[in-house]
Amino acid sequence: MNRRKALKVAGVAAMVAAVGAEAKMAVEHMNRMDMKPKDPAKMDKGELKHSPLVTIKEKDAKGYTLIEITVGQGGIIHPSTPDHWIDFIELYADDKLVGKSTLEPEISRGAASFSLKLDNVKVLKAKAGCNLHGIWTTSVTL
Ligand SMILES: [Fe+2]
Repeated sequence: MNRRKALKVAGVAAMVAAVGAEAKMAVEHMNRMDMKPKDPAKMDKGELKHSPLVTIKEKDAKGYTLIEITVGQGGIIHPSTPDHWIDFIELYADDKLVGKSTLEPEISRGAASFSLKLDNVKVLKAKAGCNLHGIWTTSVTL
């Protein structure tokens, strides 16, 4: 195989890998229901266990604000066992995906943090995927 052909093959392989990752993410979302608390002011135990808690921390010298997301609120922490765990957390700024964390069972719990420039952002949205109980979203208007 000459160099040009080898580069072409490597490029195609990289494209397939990239498309594969996006397809995998789409399937992750497709097979799960979007969930939200019936009444956000009065969440039950299951809703508290799954709804992401978004905490906006301090802005650093470069203008990035630390955003902490934990899954579980009101002292209830979502479990992280081999068959039940939070497998991803995503953060959206005005509906644009700006951060994603993929989590493993047992060793990771449902928590992630990101640093963002929030100057023109109006709404932050955190999504947490439970492998058994759907995708839970919390929105924060700034
Ligand atoms: Fe769950």
